[in-house]
Amino acid sequence: MLAPLAGIGNWFVRLQAKRHGAGLVVSEMVSSFGLKYGDERTTREFLRIHPDEHPVSIQLFGHDAEAMRIAAAKVAEAGADLIDLNMGCPVRKVCKTGAGAALLDDPDRAVAIARAAREGSGLPVTVKLASGQRPGDRAGLHLAQRLVEDAVAGIAFHPRHASQEHRGEPDYDLAATLVEALDVPVVISGGLSSDERAAEAFERTGAAALMLARGSLGNP
Ligand SMILES: Cc1cc2nc3c(=O)[nH]c(=O)nc-3n(C[C@H](O)[C@H](O)[C@H](O)COP(=O)(O)O)c2cc1C
Repeated sequence: MLAPLAGIGNWFVRLQAKRHGAGLVVSEMVSSFGLKYGDERTTREFLRIHPDEHPVSIQLFGHDAEAMRIAAAKVAEAGADLIDLNMGCPVRKVCKTGAGAALLDDPDRAVAIARAAREGSGLPVTVKLASGQRPGDRAGLHLAQRLVEDAVAGIAFHPRHASQEHRGEPDYDLAATLVEALDVPVVISGGLSSDERAAEAFERTGAAALMLARGSLGNP
């Protein structure tokens, strides 16, 4: 599976991943507000889906359930197979609006957003989570449980804290705890920079699948 990487490109990167065996590709995150207000670039560039890239998931972010409902309907109309919601992005510009990793600390809002995405699109919805805001914080695990009870078909889990900003060792043992606790597929992201590391993460976590991010770029 190819993980979302904002700013890295869109469907031609996904097609390349497909060509090299990815079972599912996910777009970079797309603003639900941009789609709601019909922003031309957001709609034209980010909702473009190539016929050869199915199954494809479009990732959305935002802090408002009603905007998410409208955006999700547009994603379904564009032909996506799944919607993934970003609730793990640590970037300040995103978090200060209440989206991304800020939702780890706002579970009621997070669940309402996921429900709205599912209802608005009629598609299966997955959510990408980080472990929490800071070391020792397990908010991501608690939120995963709530989301799965309510609206969500699967979890993509990046077992680092938002404060790590994608640096440091991912906590695969923590990921294994989540895999064990949930009845839906859990996909692992983080630190998959070689075949060996990917095999180790797969084995140690018992995950349903792995998401390749930085490890898939440069030398696919
Ligand atoms: C430049 C950059 C952009 C990213 N953009 C997104 C994004 O749009 N959506 C998302 O869910 N994750 C995004 N991520 C996180 C990756 O999908 C992935 O979870 C993270 O890099 C850990 O995997 P890795 O250590 O194998 O790279 C981004 C990471 C980087 C470094």
